[in-house]
Amino acid sequence: MNLIFLGPPGAGKGTQAKRLIDRLRIPQLSTGDVLRKAVADGTPLGVKAKPLMSSGQLVPDEIVNGIVDEALDQPTYQKGFLLDGFPRTVPQAQALDAALQKRGRKIEHVLLLEVPIELLVARLSGRQTCPKCQTSYGKDNPPKKSGLCDNDGESLSVRPDDQPESVRRRMMEYETKTALLTGYYKARGVVRPIDGVGSVDDVEKRIVRALDPDGEHER
Ligand code: AP5
Repeated sequence: MNLIFLGPPGAGKGTQAKRLIDRLRIPQLSTGDVLRKAVADGTPLGVKAKPLMSSGQLVPDEIVNGIVDEALDQPTYQKGFLLDGFPRTVPQAQALDAALQKRGRKIEHVLLLEVPIELLVARLSGRQTCPKCQTSYGKDNPPKKSGLCDNDGESLSVRPDDQPESVRRRMMEYETKTALLTGYYKARGVVRPIDGVGSVDDVEKRIVRALDPDGEHER
């Protein structure tokens, strides 16, 4: 199954993607996670992306298109993928279409997580992230041990782009560039709107129901 997670910053894309990889047994491909790793490793890509990301701007299309095009050839992504944070602009969506078409594949579902802006800002201001596995924690889903990741025990930190000024810029980038993708994919009948308000478990149940009305993936 080839899926895209669409939704504004803080909608819960990463949180839900990390749950669905277990349930659906398909890997997540998060361009944000790939870029944050490049920044942490100080690679040439990371050096270029760092100032853009921390100020809440998008990284140029050709860079992220290249990351995804390369990933699609890796064995991990052959049986399906869950794209989180990509595409984010119409040119990225067109590049993805071309990349999939040449491999005889297509997008089956676009999960559109809908959350009101006041809640998004509240979630981002309370977010702590694991720098190693990129799992996010918040007031409603805190780690078991304060300040430490449940998965690997790493110390949690606040993402530089969760500062208020960067959050404002990210919301603006979403409204002016990424929101256009809803219409792009609606025309193909693949958009599944999901109410993203409620507990992480409740949102997960809604996603599973939307993907699988017959209950094959229920547990
Ligand atoms: P990216 O990492 O993709 O960030 P984003 O889209 O801004 O999304 P977030 O990770 O902030 O939010 P999320 O929806 O994943 O929410 P989360 O699950 O963490 O991109 C970062 C940057 O990289 C971009 O700004 C850009 O510079 C660059 N970039 C990446 N991809 C790019 C591309 N394709 N093109 C160009 N540039 C690109 O949840 C948020 C918080 O809420 C957490 O604390 C979580 O614990 C909590 N939470 C989640 N669900 C719930 C719930 N149901 N109830 C209560 N709390 C919840």
